[in-house]
Amino acid sequence: MTDAIATVDETPESEPAPTTTAAPAAEWWRTAVIYQIYPRSFADADGDGIGDLPGITRRLPALADLGVDAIWLSPFFTSPQNDAGYDVADYCDVDPLFGTLADFDGMLAEAHRLGLRVIVDLVPNHSSSAHRWFQEALAAGPGSAERARYLFREGRGEHGELPPNNWESVFGGAAWTRVNADDPADGQWYLHLFDSSQPDFDWQNPWVREQFRGVLRFWLDRGVDGFRVDVAHGLVKADGLPDWTPPEHGGSMGGSTPALEGVPLEEEISSDLDEHAAPYWAQDGVHEIYRDWHRVLSEYEGDRVLCAEAWVEPLTKLARWVRPDEMQQAFNFTYLETPWSATALRRVIDTSIASFATVGAPSTWVLSNHDVVRHASRLALTAENPQGAGIGPDSPGLPDPVLGLRRARAATAVMLALPGSAYVYQGEELGLPEVIHLPADARQDPTWFRTNGEKYGRDGCRVPIPWEAGAPAYGFNDSGESWLPQPGEWAALARDAQDGVPGSTLELYRSLLRERAGHELATGAIEWLPGFGADVVAFENRGVTVVANLGNDPVELPAGASVLIASDSVEGGILPPDTAVWLA
Ligand code: BGC
Repeated sequence: MTDAIATVDETPESEPAPTTTAAPAAEWWRTAVIYQIYPRSFADADGDGIGDLPGITRRLPALADLGVDAIWLSPFFTSPQNDAGYDVADYCDVDPLFGTLADFDGMLAEAHRLGLRVIVDLVPNHSSSAHRWFQEALAAGPGSAERARYLFREGRGEHGELPPNNWESVFGGAAWTRVNADDPADGQWYLHLFDSSQPDFDWQNPWVREQFRGVLRFWLDRGVDGFRVDVAHGLVKADGLPDWTPPEHGGSMGGSTPALEGVPLEEEISSDLDEHAAPYWAQDGVHEIYRDWHRVLSEYEGDRVLCAEAWVEPLTKLARWVRPDEMQQAFNFTYLETPWSATALRRVIDTSIASFATVGAPSTWVLSNHDVVRHASRLALTAENPQGAGIGPDSPGLPDPVLGLRRARAATAVMLALPGSAYVYQGEELGLPEVIHLPADARQDPTWFRTNGEKYGRDGCRVPIPWEAGAPAYGFNDSGESWLPQPGEWAALARDAQDGVPGSTLELYRSLLRERAGHELATGAIEWLPGFGADVVAFENRGVTVVANLGNDPVELPAGASVLIASDSVEGGILPPDTAVWLA
């Protein structure tokens, strides 16, 4: 297993070592660049201030032109929108906010016409409390078959007045809500790992499994190319729902990074660190569900894909989600969370490729999404910022925006040179930063409410994106409405202000995507290049040399090298700090 794997040499003066052999590239998703559309904030055709499917359809040519292969849409299903649509009240319909099923079909057809595959979000861990299934469960009462769809339990304490266990919601507060404390016949509690309006299903119940097979088929029949699976590490809970206290530095979604510094790579990828799992994350029982879904997808023509949103560490454990008979992809959040350090970056690249190679899967790469601080801000934060906390006016260690953007551009230049599949979050191709100064009364993330403002949450990365510098709402719509206010300085970042402008972030992304495809980097293999110093990440992939300077001192580039792409200006063969180049 480890024959094809070489460790990162922390003394870069030593001989170069190949890190992996190339994976077969038969299926499209092994190499795809997938663009995440957050429908609320992408494009708003009806002008109500919330993006919609017709808006997406109109703007799809811009994505085809950018050079991505596929789009993933965050939820647009019927929902009270307590968690921006991740609280689904009907899995097989479109919320009127976003349009209709016919609008969806139109969008899908247009995407396919443009050569873009389409992945939709599946939210199987929980529904909305407004879902008919949950409303029926409430009405049917304790002991009913309807209650068995969800995780209802009696409380602890003399009168059942205490929650059944000590689990906490990811968004803050207890993970249990009582149905009705005043009803002597029904004082049960229900589990919600997220908001109280998001009750968790009981995935041990075959009825639940059957419903979701139906949901998969509904969207596959309409022609979708796959699903991004929300909270794919949470569906199954440990028997008996035992109490559990998370380790102090555990990520809220379960990515409690064990201390692996100094552990040799071979040991890291063959280690089994199950003791870090909470009784509601990463339970073995989830895998049979994904095997079942794999079989459902196999009934359909073409290469349909399941991508796990699973905050699971270490990567060797995450690789279980993408065994040949389970899902096809898993988001590499370990990569996303890697600090701006050459040593850490080399290590996570090696570990990722090696871990996924053990199951024959490509690694994915991702730097931003709708749940994390945008990487143009995150990479310049100077204080700890746990996932989900967000940043706001009073956060410690606020980033220098100029430095943040420099680093983000360099980080993307590294990411898009790596073999495998990459995810891009809407607006990062414009260099959008996290919006820090959102008024408190505009914030909508349940995290903000459930922590009484202690955590800002994720609204700062969800602000509607700017298309046209001079238009109302920067071209997000014609009315000027926007469900979260757009910052004044975003005119300069609008797509039309960057279009065709040499050196703009948009043109950087375009060139990276074009050269990535042209050189077929996604099916390549990387070879570390020694000799650049400890603060530099340098590798070759299919004849393209990538050099990224993560340190404070300028670095000399190889004599005579010609610069194919530079993340910022490079003169006289000298690579400034926080800059990356692709050399031909
Ligand atoms: C989604 C979040 C959502 C949560 C609950 C996630 O991981 O990406 O946006 O709040 O699941 O559904």
